[in-house]
Amino acid sequence: MNDHVAKIRNLAGLATPMALRVAVTLGLPDRLCEGASASSVAAELRVSPVSLELLLGHLASLGIVERVAEGYRTTEFGATLRADAGNGLTNFLHLDMAGGRADLAFVELLHSVTTGESGYTHRFGKDFWTDLTEQPHLRASFDEQMTHRFRSQIPGLVAGFDWGRFTKLVDVGGGHGTLLAAILAAHGSLRGHLVDLDPTATEATRTFSLFEVQDRAQVTASSFFDPLPAGADAYLLCDILHDWDDANAHRILARCVEACTPASRVLVIEALGGRQDNTEFDLAMLAIFGGRERRLDEFHALASAHGLALETAVVLTEQRNLLEFRLA
Ligand SMILES: C[S@@+](CC[C@H](N)C(=O)[O-])C[C@H]1O[C@@H](n2cnc3c(N)ncnc32)[C@H](O)[C@@H]1O
Repeated sequence: MNDHVAKIRNLAGLATPMALRVAVTLGLPDRLCEGASASSVAAELRVSPVSLELLLGHLASLGIVERVAEGYRTTEFGATLRADAGNGLTNFLHLDMAGGRADLAFVELLHSVTTGESGYTHRFGKDFWTDLTEQPHLRASFDEQMTHRFRSQIPGLVAGFDWGRFTKLVDVGGGHGTLLAAILAAHGSLRGHLVDLDPTATEATRTFSLFEVQDRAQVTASSFFDPLPAGADAYLLCDILHDWDDANAHRILARCVEACTPASRVLVIEALGGRQDNTEFDLAMLAIFGGRERRLDEFHALASAHGLALETAVVLTEQRNLLEFRLA
């Protein structure tokens, strides 16, 4: 029984997740790569030397830093948290970047579970997207996080579906455009049109140039709550609907259907909900956005309200499915 208590205390502890995030925010794994004393780092950072020593003590117990003659030094394990490690972790954990800030919404999980609403909005007084618009460094870090998360998945997303049967694809909320660019690069007769908010949309034009598909890729900086480019034969929503509650998901789908021709398809790429392996992410969508990973039956209900019928469901990668809807 005591084992159970210890295990649960361990699972429930907030100290370690926050210690790691504060370490990244202060850049400790970078500053300590050659070894330094707590007092010299504290003076450099203008933080409390006593408190920093306590933090470093806990980081040492985790194996992130080790005690050496001059003070503390980042271990090989801790170097995973260095900004130049190339794994996206610092961007994800830094408390003043989009990912780290967004996770603070978990402190408001009780509010989200009680009301079904975003803990982020409850905590910061504005929703995630408004915060990104008001703080450009958060927007830049979120876009980078989004691009990084798909690095290994893009080949599967491109190869797992016959994109080449379309002539014009609108990527609704397409971010920096890495997915659309890869799809266009793989299908020379396909034209693409990305819609997202600025400055993200403008950045996507750079991606299209980088992939040398700029002559077939159009970009519109606007909201998907406003009218979308009309008449394309496919409208892609990749990791969009899970960011929104049902009311807003309906508004987005309505804009897609309004822009569709009778033969157009609406394509939804997401991780399907109701699976046991993704429960932490389910809670993140709830706490940050008041959204969720919807189950297949929930997608049916959402889409059928707009006259959309599910035509095919394809497993693209371990983490993402594609649902193809046509107008019934
Ligand atoms: C989770 S990201 C997904 C980005 C991209 N589809 C991908 O899979 O990499 C959600 C995207 O929705 C965009 N977005 C949020 N609100 C929007 C709005 N009102 N209109 C257009 N895009 C919006 C964000 O800027 C962001 O690029």
